[in-house]
Amino acid sequence: MNAHAMTDQTSFLIRRMQPADAETLAAFYNGLSKASIRTFRPLGTKTAADVCLKLALNNGVEKDIRFDLLALTGPRVVGWCFLWDLDTDKPMFGLGIADDHHGQGLGGTLMDRVMQTARDRRLAQVFLTVVKDNVVAWRLYEKRGFVRYDEYISKDDGETYLRMACGLRGGEPAEQAASVKRGG
Ligand SMILES: CC(C)(COP(=O)(O)OP(=O)(O)OC[C@H]1O[C@@H](n2cnc3c(N)ncnc32)[C@H](O)[C@@H]1OP(=O)(O)O)[C@@H](O)C(=O)NCCC(=O)NCCS
Repeated sequence: MNAHAMTDQTSFLIRRMQPADAETLAAFYNGLSKASIRTFRPLGTKTAADVCLKLALNNGVEKDIRFDLLALTGPRVVGWCFLWDLDTDKPMFGLGIADDHHGQGLGGTLMDRVMQTARDRRLAQVFLTVVKDNVVAWRLYEKRGFVRYDEYISKDDGETYLRMACGLRGGEPAEQAASVKRGG
């Protein structure tokens, strides 16, 4: 379902990704600053429209194994929040906002919508990784119920990452995260 959201000054259209968004999602991703790509690179350092088209097709067009939510101002994508691996018991969460729209409440808004979708789909848990020094991001996640259960240094980029999990079916989140760690 489409939805409009207001942050401080701007109105956004928030809706699930469609195949026609492939080009504009690629432009958003390739326009992220170096600092943002350091902490958010689900598609590597650069992407292309055909890669983004595959994501869109996994949003219930050919398969329903991803949920990609976009925030748009006019034709421009300014925020992207997603769940992937929805066909596994380890669905993963990701969030990125255009640099010129940081700190306007958009990240929190998109995250709330995506986590509501996770609850509507009766997911038991959602997982994410976050660069440890990305304090704004992990505070946002902690505030919304994610707990840390592990940390590691990536062989790809040498950064220290936190692993976090959010239990969606009640119970004690810390215990759920601990059982995730034991289960690998
Ligand atoms: C991390 C990120 C997603 C946050 O999105 P955002 O739209 O800027 O965040 P919001 O405006 O919704 O703010 C979320 C919270 O962080 C706080 N915050 C935002 N920017 C902040 C800043 N520069 N310093 C301190 N706090 C900040 C807000 O006050 C808000 O706190 P609240 O929930 O207590 O009100 C965004 O900065 C981003 O895309 N960064 C680059 C990519 C990235 O690192 N993604 C996360 C990968 S795991």
